[in-house]
Amino acid sequence: MFCRATIALTLTLLSLLSLSPLGFGSSPPQSSQSLSVMPITPITPIKDCNSQDKKVLLQIKKDLNNPYLLASWDPKTPCCGWYLIQCDEITDRIISLSIRDSPVFTNLTGHIPPSVGDLPYLQSLSFHRLPYLTGPIPPTIAKLKNLKYLFIEYTNVSGPVPPFLAQLKNLILLHLTGNYLSGPIPSALSQLPKLTSLRLDGNKLTGPIPESFGSFKKPGPDIILSRNQLSGTIPTSLGQIDPDTIDLSRNKLVGDASVLFGSKKRTQKIDISRNLLSFDFSKVQIPIKSLIWLDINHNNIYGKLPVELAKVELQQFNVSYNKLCGQIPQGGTKRLQDNFDKYAYLHNKCLCGAPLSKCK
Ligand SMILES: *[C@@H]1O[C@H](CO)[C@@H](O)[C@H](O)[C@H]1NC(C)=O
Ligand SMILES: *[C@@H]1O[C@H](CO)[C@@H](O)[C@H](O)[C@H]1NC(C)=O
Ligand SMILES: *[C@@H]1O[C@H](CO)[C@@H](O)[C@H](O)[C@H]1NC(C)=O
Repeated sequence: MFCRATIALTLTLLSLLSLSPLGFGSSPPQSSQSLSVMPITPITPIKDCNSQDKKVLLQIKKDLNNPYLLASWDPKTPCCGWYLIQCDEITDRIISLSIRDSPVFTNLTGHIPPSVGDLPYLQSLSFHRLPYLTGPIPPTIAKLKNLKYLFIEYTNVSGPVPPFLAQLKNLILLHLTGNYLSGPIPSALSQLPKLTSLRLDGNKLTGPIPESFGSFKKPGPDIILSRNQLSGTIPTSLGQIDPDTIDLSRNKLVGDASVLFGSKKRTQKIDISRNLLSFDFSKVQIPIKSLIWLDINHNNIYGKLPVELAKVELQQFNVSYNKLCGQIPQGGTKRLQDNFDKYAYLHNKCLCGAPLSKCK
């Protein structure tokens, strides 16, 4: 089977080749005899990328101190075949650069090369798991007007989340997880009209969540800001957007988070655990149609659990370590009391009913 398929594929390629301007193979081979001299694996010729892009890639390699990781970036070879890059098949421009280290290579050191800004057709730029990549996010990145995906994840990159990122109007995903970024979240990020996911989690960001985040184009991107040192109250404007996921966990946020809820919202995941939030949970409107993940553990949230919680299909639920009181909603179509054990409820003021002890 495999052999027949390979021959069929080879024949298809040969007939395609016969149409090429080189004109060789003007009569496609008829016999299996002539096939036996052909290589088994069909080889697609590797093209050279745009010469300006090639120059820039070599500059990037130099800026990163000629790491072994980029050994295949040899000026004598066609750059569309180089490791960690992708060429556009028609224009031969570089459209993707994804630098990721692996333990078999020496650890890549240096800064994000400013020269990346000179790859004007780049749609995806990624620096991933590079513990020795240091320094700030260079301003030249603002030149990448075609950029759709920017990932700088698990590196030692530091400095601010630069406001110039708001100039990248085509950005769909902006993931800056697990770096050493500090300072405030720039409010200008809400001006990214195509953004569907904003991840700034696991950094050292301080200050409030920008008021402007309520003006993200609706429904608004997933917003993941966990594991920072964000403070202040959650802006009421956030009630205007309706993202799939909002994760503000492990910060120092205070006050009311009820704007994140709403019976008509389509939010699936709300995680506000491990903050200093304090508000009446009886008043929140559970997004009945969509909610699957609710974690509010370790806050100062008071009041009763809304009965609607027994009507939603929750996969993750945790209200422990708060100041909640009253009966855990029983029955309902989804039987909340059967799906989560006592550890989802422990350390509250006076919660009662299954799986905790009976209400008095
Ligand atoms: C890279 O760094 C890691 C962590 O510091 C270390 O364990 C590893 O040996 C280093 N690898 C090389 C090839 O230097
Ligand atoms: C990363 O940066 C932090 C803070 O600047 C520093 O403490 C840490 O040692 C750095 N890690 C590496 C692998 O350079
Ligand atoms: C809820 O959170 C607490 C505190 O972090 C943890 O101890 C407990 O295991 C969690 N329970 C569930 C069901 O996730």
